[in-house]
Amino acid sequence: MNNLDQLVIDAQAAFASANAAAALEQAKARFLGKNGLVTEQLKALGGLAPEQKRERGAEVNRVKAAIETALAERREALREVELAAQLEAEAFDITLPGRGATPGGLHPVSRTLERIERLFQSIGFVSVDGPEIETEWHNFTALNTPENHPARSMHDTFFLEGREDVLLRTHTSPVQIRAMLAHVERTRDCDPMPDLRVIAPGRVYRVDSDATHSPMFHQVEGLWVGERVSFADLKGVVTDFLRKFFETENLQVRFRPSFFPFTEPSAEIDVAFMGGKLKGRWLEVAGCGMVHPNVLRCGGIDPERYTGFAFGFGPDRLTMLRYGVNDLRLFFEGDLRFLSQFR
Ligand code: DAH
Repeated sequence: MNNLDQLVIDAQAAFASANAAAALEQAKARFLGKNGLVTEQLKALGGLAPEQKRERGAEVNRVKAAIETALAERREALREVELAAQLEAEAFDITLPGRGATPGGLHPVSRTLERIERLFQSIGFVSVDGPEIETEWHNFTALNTPENHPARSMHDTFFLEGREDVLLRTHTSPVQIRAMLAHVERTRDCDPMPDLRVIAPGRVYRVDSDATHSPMFHQVEGLWVGERVSFADLKGVVTDFLRKFFETENLQVRFRPSFFPFTEPSAEIDVAFMGGKLKGRWLEVAGCGMVHPNVLRCGGIDPERYTGFAFGFGPDRLTMLRYGVNDLRLFFEGDLRFLSQFR
């Protein structure tokens, strides 16, 4: 065996013992690199006579090709090993049963809010909303609430640190003011002003927490302002809504005289079911009344010419009644054992 054949054997052995790509590249350099053993043989050809050169040159080229082939084969083999290892590492067990897709669903309170909106939209009310961080003016002052009213105190209302003019809205009633101002602006060229009918569902905040009170809860505000809107309209609209909401004509609705600064006269709305577990018990579901002239004025509307009624429902309460839920906090704890019952 001549030294050239030995070179091929040495290269094959070196490549075979390289167990990773980097080691293989080092081995390659030793034979085929700029100062490698094969390259040396090629350089040495320069000193040979033409006849010898041709013969020896062919030999060296054959050896070089053989080593290159061995290198390519080893590269391929290493790549396969690497791929196999990678597949092994990333393998997942396709025989495991799947997790399945868990169907989602709307939160029961969201269902109630959508239901209320849909029912009011069907009689011409438009859904609007307002900011949850509200100005003291919209939340209290414009709603005819006196400076010394207890609701304005720190232990009833969440104010923002370092600010006295903004707070977390305590009710959706400030949306009445925003809706009136926007409506007046939009209908400036109309005489008479077209009726304003809005419904405003949303989150409200109070410093309060027990089984029937949560620091965050929901309200739905309603407002209808026009030239001849009366308390009779209020009774008709609300009674009709409640019977549709609870899907029964067997529902008694009572308007109990009450007080709110922003309405005059004011009433609380109670319902009583005529069957079922709650049969005959009066349950409070909303506040309402004829919009106070001072409130209309703050909304840019002439109280000598227009009247309106407003109401504020507690949709959390309505949801509890509709589904028979006895603790308000269940709605806000995010427990799937509870929530999945409403899917
Ligand atoms: N804003 C009142 C509350 O949070 C509820 C209310 C009462 C809203 C009477 C009204 C209304 O629009 O007319 O207790």
